[in-house]
Amino acid sequence: MSRTLIKNIKTLYTSHEIPPVKGKAMSHIFELDNAYILIEDETIKEIGQNYSGDESGLFVYDASNLICLPGLVDSHTHLVFGGSREHEFAKKIAGVPYLDILKEGGGILSTVEETKNASYEDLIEQSKKSLDQMLQFGVTTLEAKSGYGLDTEIEVKQLTVLEVLNKTHDIDIHSTYLGAHALPKKYVDKREEFIRNIIESLDTIKENNLAEYVDVFCEVGVFTAREAEQILKAAKDKGFKLRVHSDEIESIGGTKVAISLNAKTVDHLMAITDEDINLLSKSNTIANLLPSTSFYLNKEYAPARKLIENNCAVSVSSDYNPGSTPSENYQLTLQLAGNKLRMSPKEILTAATLNPAYSLDVHTKVGSLEVGKQADILLLEAKNLDYFIYHYGINHTKAVFKKGKLVVDNQRIIKEIK
Ligand code: NIG
Ligand code: FE
Repeated sequence: MSRTLIKNIKTLYTSHEIPPVKGKAMSHIFELDNAYILIEDETIKEIGQNYSGDESGLFVYDASNLICLPGLVDSHTHLVFGGSREHEFAKKIAGVPYLDILKEGGGILSTVEETKNASYEDLIEQSKKSLDQMLQFGVTTLEAKSGYGLDTEIEVKQLTVLEVLNKTHDIDIHSTYLGAHALPKKYVDKREEFIRNIIESLDTIKENNLAEYVDVFCEVGVFTAREAEQILKAAKDKGFKLRVHSDEIESIGGTKVAISLNAKTVDHLMAITDEDINLLSKSNTIANLLPSTSFYLNKEYAPARKLIENNCAVSVSSDYNPGSTPSENYQLTLQLAGNKLRMSPKEILTAATLNPAYSLDVHTKVGSLEVGKQADILLLEAKNLDYFIYHYGINHTKAVFKKGKLVVDNQRIIKEIK
């Protein structure tokens, strides 16, 4: 048995609510000064103050001047894709709207082309690089979507990459099938056929156990609420859990569909209506906000304050992808949640740990620091939680423990554990 002691922690911060954590409860954070955590193998055995016990036989990590949080949970990313989209950057900064670039065959469709042309090894290598960076920013659990195939074979290639990375990388990955991410050009006059194909492909994904979740991009010019409903209902019937891209640019009914099907998350929500906020507050669906995307697209921010004041459960995710937010820096996303969504550092902590863990059905294992939970632990070089959110754009990580093992120290990856 391996035993580890993290001692002299300046302050330990964790949510300790029962998720989904809604409204005011999102700022209920347990704080402990001069704390220690005792770990046995993968599990937290003891949390306390001023450790004075025996240290023999223990791996001891001195966390003097460091604050401690649960490992971060980023519950919306598009990790696996070929190439990049800097060739569209000039258009973007000249003010051409995101959906217009997509209409011209660029945007998601240009990444689809590059993903088709990328070898399986290229995809593994590129995605692993991103995962390494995410881990260095303190992410220990991740959701990742397909969606750059729009054709079963390439979607399966992306999901297989995720399966392999989940087995080989320290970050735990939960996969989502996003076959309905955009309508390929050749289906412009055959929408029903494309939807039918997606529904048929669900069996292949299920039989090969390639995804836990199904997602649809419900947006003007992409998929309608009715089309989203058709796909999501079929997915639910086949035993998939649901997440939905909704109200990113306009509100066209995707949020209502998602809530009625008991989706785990509705994501984006920049254009959410008051009526849907009310429905959301009465559900267990998490409002998954993506402020880095608003920042990068120079768009409105989701109404986080209104959502929290109306007793919704909020999580915050990076949405890492090659188009609307090409950055692995989840800490920056959290700092934008402060500065732009006007969420408090305590609310942000809940939105980056326990609520996203709930949306990924892993909240009994991760998302908070409690005895019996998995030892996924982040140590930050920050004076306090407020400082972590206030001092933006840098990496505050000092060390990361995953399943009780030190995997990042001094911001460098030190060990592969799987
Ligand atoms: O969540 N909105 C749709 N999908 C992604 C963007 C994907 C891309 O542009 O490649 C998003 O922002
Ligand atoms: Fe997305």
